[in-house]
Amino acid sequence: MITGTGITKTYRQRGDVLGGREVRALRGVDFAVPRGGAVSFIGESGCGKTTLGRIVAGLETYDAGEIVIDGTPMSSLRHKQRQAEFRKIQLIHQDPYSALNPNRTIHQTLQAPLALRARRTGRPSSWVDDRAEELLSLVGIDPGYVLGRYPHQLSGGMRQRVVIARALTVDPEMLVADESVSMIDVSMRLSVLALLKDLRERLGVSVLFITHDIATARYIGDSGELYVLYRGQVVERGLTESVISGPVHPYTQSLLSAIPVLHGLERPGHDRVVPTEALDERRPDTGCLFARRCPFRTEECTAEPPALVRVAGPAAEAAPHEHACYHPARRSVIPEEAA
Ligand SMILES: Nc1ncnc2c1ncn2[C@@H]1O[C@H](COP(=O)(O)OP(=O)(O)OP(=O)(O)O)[C@@H](O)[C@H]1O
Ligand SMILES: [Mg+2]
Repeated sequence: MITGTGITKTYRQRGDVLGGREVRALRGVDFAVPRGGAVSFIGESGCGKTTLGRIVAGLETYDAGEIVIDGTPMSSLRHKQRQAEFRKIQLIHQDPYSALNPNRTIHQTLQAPLALRARRTGRPSSWVDDRAEELLSLVGIDPGYVLGRYPHQLSGGMRQRVVIARALTVDPEMLVADESVSMIDVSMRLSVLALLKDLRERLGVSVLFITHDIATARYIGDSGELYVLYRGQVVERGLTESVISGPVHPYTQSLLSAIPVLHGLERPGHDRVVPTEALDERRPDTGCLFARRCPFRTEECTAEPPALVRVAGPAAEAAPHEHACYHPARRSVIPEEAA
């Protein structure tokens, strides 16, 4: 189990003519990923997804909050022990072109971390090559074909699989996959998604998935949870299906309203939510961070920030459906079948 409570991060950006400014990338984010579970974070560009992924993988510091890995709070550990714990969480770089050292064969790439692992766990050196072959087979590529080759001799899809095999060399408990906008090759994206799903089932490895695409979140997260992040804050969360089929926060609804409609087959949901004001980061916020853009705002919304609370109604689900909104309501925003 990996949990985060109150994770907060502010970046101080260098000043231009307007002087420096602070960017509040994360404003107290809580999350929990059970062993073998899947949690997706979704939100628009700049909402703090990558920052969160890097913090969870131990690659970025945070200003406040705590990350607990299998019951151990990371702040209680010394640097070296902390690094060992964070090794259980592996970030998969979604750019396979820059993630692998071009001067090393795939064998060399996998051999280095495996040899270290063999030494640490007292395994014979013969284990290293066996394990390398095993991991490559596990991610669906032929070891005989790739081991002796360099990254540039492989297709993008194969390189991406090698990146995942390398993450698996340390037997991680959780993989963090940050899907960047630059990943435009659809077939490659799909095969990586299918592989992550398969690894979850076969190895029991949990997955923290970061995306701006609701369809992707739905695919990876069936049976898992979806967190909707807006300007560094979780505004809605719950089982992926219940959030997607019954979103109650206007921001989640605006994300879902943006799903394209299949003309002739579907028509837009009749309560589509479209933000009414462009975001001006320089203006201070008092209450709800979405209030200025929200078509449902009232005075209450700008007075005090809303807390995450449970959605009213039957609560028989494995994970509670929660929202941070003064005017939550189920609205019909996703495309409906045309009559
Ligand atoms: N190293 C940094 N220094 C200064 N500001 C940063 C740094 N990293 C991120 N930020 C800022 O923090 C905010 C959150 O950035 P982040 O990269 O986490 O967003 P994101 O949700 O991953 O966006 P995208 O969907 O575009 O990848 C942004 O305003 C960004 O400009
Ligand atoms: Mg990002």
